[in-house]
Amino acid sequence: MKLIIGASGAVGIPLIKQLVQRGEALRALSSSEGSAERLRELGVQEVMVGDYRTDGVVEQAMADVESACYVPARFVADEFEIGKRIVDAAKGASLEHFLFCSAFHPQLHELSHHWQKLQVEEYLVDSDLLNTVVQPSMFMQNIRVEWSRIVEAGIYPRPYSPHSKMSVIDTDDLAEAMANIMTERKFQGASYQLAGPGPITHAEMAAVISEEIGKPVEAVHRDLNDWKSWAEGRGWTDYAITNYIAMCTHYDQHGFKYGNTITLAAILGREPIDYRAFVRKLVAQ
Ligand SMILES: NC(=O)c1ccc[n+]([C@@H]2O[C@H](COP(=O)([O-])OP(=O)(O)OC[C@H]3O[C@@H](n4cnc5c(N)ncnc54)[C@H](OP(=O)(O)O)[C@@H]3O)[C@@H](O)[C@H]2O)c1
Repeated sequence: MKLIIGASGAVGIPLIKQLVQRGEALRALSSSEGSAERLRELGVQEVMVGDYRTDGVVEQAMADVESACYVPARFVADEFEIGKRIVDAAKGASLEHFLFCSAFHPQLHELSHHWQKLQVEEYLVDSDLLNTVVQPSMFMQNIRVEWSRIVEAGIYPRPYSPHSKMSVIDTDDLAEAMANIMTERKFQGASYQLAGPGPITHAEMAAVISEEIGKPVEAVHRDLNDWKSWAEGRGWTDYAITNYIAMCTHYDQHGFKYGNTITLAAILGREPIDYRAFVRKLVAQ
């Protein structure tokens, strides 16, 4: 049985779908009954409801599993502490393999949510566990937040320059690569920076979307204070807001470049999806 921790988000759901399709026996640790129900409906055999910050929960989740994948939650202040707890439990359970979903450029120390992932990577090295790290670039699927505004008003707002070059990845490709890593020994024991074709700017993305939906779409630089009010209204924590703003400031100055498709293509055994193919899929959905 394989354990997924962090199963209900942008990475976890397509990963679960991939593994269920392959007939893998799965256990997931979920923090809520609502998410747990969805995971059961997707075909996860055992869903344990619990908080990974509670003593004993991660150890219990690791009992009798051969391998585990940990996908950290977005923008939580104690990300490294949670990661250490999970790696310690994996070591205690003598897992055969541990997959960690990190991020592209985890060494950006001004971005705490990147830096804490690098600290988990370091902790994993010292754990002596057979481990694999994936470092995905920006998710193409992030656009779901702005999609209705794009379609209705022809505006694609991002809180940094629309001309910043971004490395991007389709989360379905990411999930397929992670499932290959979890099920094929030859891919295990490495750190992989993963990106689809690119980089691409948000202005270029808007042009592709415009062609695909047949109406004008303009990428605009959203004011960060406007974004901050939006995030506060949705209950984002101070930590999340501070780091999101730091990330946008970094993107504004440097973008999120450069990645290439070589590693992802090698793990998938095919070329990764490009931005136009992703938009076509999104429109069809
Ligand atoms: N967005 C991007 O472009 C991008 C690019 C590269 C890397 N990343 C990174 O990718 C990672 C994954 O993103 P995501 O959107 O999939 O993450 P997410 O949804 O925020 O978190 C993953 C899952 O963790 C579970 N979880 C949260 N708190 C928990 C707790 N206390 N105990 C147990 N489980 C808990 C939740 O599932 P349940 O509801 O089942 O508990 C949640 O869906 C993030 O760390 C992000 O920084 C993002």
